[in-house]
This record gives sequence, C-alpha cells and structure tokens, in this order.
Amino acid sequence: MVDRVDVLVTGAGGFIGGHLTADLLRQGYSVRAVDKKPLDEWSQIAPAADSRVLDVSLLEHAREAVAGSTTVYNLAADMGGMGFIERHKAECMLSVLISTHVLMAAHEFDVERYFYSSSACVYAAGHQTSPDVVPLREEDAYPADAEDGYGWEKLFSERMCRHYLEDFGVETRVARFHNVYGPIGTWTGGREKAPAAICRKVATAVLTGDHSIDIWGDGNQTRSFMYIDDCVAGSQLILRGDDPRPVNLGSAELVSINGLVDIVEKIAGVELERRYDLSAPQGVRGRSSDNTEIVARYGWEPSITLLDGMTRTYEWVHEQVTRSMQTAGV
Ligand code: NAD
Ligand code: GDD
Repeated sequence: MVDRVDVLVTGAGGFIGGHLTADLLRQGYSVRAVDKKPLDEWSQIAPAADSRVLDVSLLEHAREAVAGSTTVYNLAADMGGMGFIERHKAECMLSVLISTHVLMAAHEFDVERYFYSSSACVYAAGHQTSPDVVPLREEDAYPADAEDGYGWEKLFSERMCRHYLEDFGVETRVARFHNVYGPIGTWTGGREKAPAAICRKVATAVLTGDHSIDIWGDGNQTRSFMYIDDCVAGSQLILRGDDPRPVNLGSAELVSINGLVDIVEKIAGVELERRYDLSAPQGVRGRSSDNTEIVARYGWEPSITLLDGMTRTYEWVHEQVTRSMQTAGV
C-alpha cells in the first residue's frame, strides 16, 4: 500500500527545497520531502511533511520517492557556487543520474506534473563575456556552449524533459534559475554563492574588528540575484502553467560584485578594505535574466529588490557567524 501525497520535493533538505516544502505545506498540500543527507543535516525539517532519506540517483530510491505523488519538484542536485562547480565538474555531471531516475519514475507512476530546476549555467559562454551583459534570453542556450560540467548536465536534463513530454506524455516544466539567495541557504563550507559568502565575510569583519574583505576576481563581474521567496513563488507558477518550454526564473536587477559588497556594507554600517583575488573561481564575466518570456506567460516576474533581500539575508548570516564564533570560543 503506497501512501498518497500531493507533492514530492526532492532535495528538500537543501536551500530551495526546504523553503518550497514549507510554502507548500502552508498552502495545505501534503508533501513528501526527500533528500540523501541524514535528517540532522537538512537545512530545515517540516514536521508536517513525510520526510525521507533517499538517494534518488538510485532508480529504486527514486521509485520509492515518487510512488503515490501527484506532482514532483525535482530539485536534488550536487551543486554549489563557483567555488564548487568549477572544481567538481564530474560530481556535478553525475546529477544526471538524479534527473534521469526521477523522471523515469515520474513516467512509471504517471505523475500529473514534473518540475525540473535547470540553471542560467545552460547559457552559451559567448553571450556572457562582458560585465555590461545583454540579459539572457531563452534562445541564447543554443548553439550550445554551456558552463563546463554543471551547465551541460542541466542542458541535457532539460532536453530529456522535453523528450519525455513529446514521446511519453509526461507533463514536464523547466525553469532556469538565476543565482538564488536568502536565509537558511548555504553560507559556508565551499558550496556557498556570492551573496551568502559576502554576508559571511562582512559579518566576520564586523564581529572580529578586522576590517578587510577578500573578493574573488576584480569585483567588476556582474550577476543578477533572485531572493528565495520569488524563486518559490515562480517555481509554482511555472509548474502550474501550460507552457513546457524552459523559461528564465531570475531577477533582472544587474549588479557588479563590488556593487553587491557596497550594499552589504551599507546594511552592516561598515566600510572595508577590499582585497581582490584574481586566482579565485570567477565563472562568466556578466549574467542577467531577460524576463520578457516569463512576463508574457504569467504576467509576473521576480520583484524583491536586492537591498530588501540582502537585508534579510545579512541578518540571518550574521546570526550564524555569531553562533559559530561562540561555539568556537572566539
Ligand atoms: P542545495 O545544494 O541547497 O540543495 C540540493 C539538495 O539536493 C541537497 O540537500 C542535497 O543533499 C540533495 N541531493 C543531492 N544529491 C541527492 C540525491 N542523489 N538524492 C537526494 N538528494 C540529493 O541546492 P539549492 O540551492 O537548493 O538548489 C536546488 C536546485 O536548484 C538544484 O537542482 C540546483 O542545481 C538548482 N539551481 C540552484 C541555483 C541557486 O542559485 N541556488 C541556481 C540554479 C539552479
Ligand atoms: N562564491 C563566491 N564566494 N563568489 C564570489 C566571492 C566569494 O567569496 N567573491 C566574489 N565572488 C564572485 C565569483 O568569483 C563570481 O564571479 C560571482 O561572485 C558569482 O559567484 P557565485 O555566486 O558563486 O556563482 P555564479 O553566479 O557564477 O553561478 C551560480 O549561479 C548559477 C545560476 O545563475 C552558481 O550557483 C551556479 O551553480 C548556478 O547555476
């Protein structure tokens, strides 16, 4: 006898999966939350969810996860910021086992909707060579020249979604997330992305009194960063929508990394000496989201400003840094 749930979230012990699970439960859906990490390492655990530790890169575990669910959000992946994806390309590509097995199980158990979290890393490098970047449109993924390792896995898995729809009728939906940040995200350990890393470095400077900060690259590279609440809301819109073609889910607010540091310094009320590490991983020179397509489809786009989102994120990261310094007896 298989328990029935409205929604399966894979990667639910991670950043976006944890927030999505909490939001779905708030709306009254029944949720099965699955991650391969032991429960005490999940970023958040929802008592009302059916939480299970499963490695969905294994077909049998993917089948157990999917069985009885009406809708699937497949967010599980081995991933991180530039510091991780530039040095762990094979591990990133092995996420293809997750994408494949969860999709196979979704087909076998005839789920009504399947959501795949792709990435802006699918876009061809040639469109991202200048900080003054032209925002990326969905068609810019082809001719393909994705981010090495991680981006190619995402592009392949997007295509597999398309073919599962065309050949087998699985109602797949694909969002290309642009750099997502917010509270309860990875902020240390090597997988953290620039927003959390910069909050951590500024909070550490404030708390230790060492008023300097290391920045990867020359600080002129640009990105757009999407606050977690916009990501959670947009993912659900895209899942429910009619259009199966991959669509950007990202902020259109372009900022340089130096500009991001300016914002965090303003929030923290400090000014730091900046040291630039040109040997650190940097990724593309510029990247932002063209939101014409998401607005045309759903009349909506991410709108939480970087200042608002970073204010909430800095507060949370500051708490984590404070706690870890207390634990270490600093
Ligand atoms: P995250 O690392 O916080 O969460 C991913 C979770 O997947 C982790 O908890 C991990 O333990 C779990 N996982 C990995 N392998 C698994 C397996 N075999 N079985 C079960 N669970 C497994 O990452 P996130 O930021 O929450 O990202 C969620 C999804 O969104 C990922 O697919 C990621 O590639 C995509 N994405 C995220 C961003 C971003 O900026 N956060 C940007 C683009 C795309
Ligand atoms: N991580 C990190 N840590 N990046 C820093 C730091 C730091 O301390 N200082 C400066 N940066 C710079 C990086 O060198 C890079 O140029 C830029 O900030 C953004 O880095 P990340 O946030 O780590 O990643 P990204 O934007 O290049 O790529 C991320 O977003 C994609 C989606 O848009 C990654 O998380 C990808 O996995 C994701 O798919």
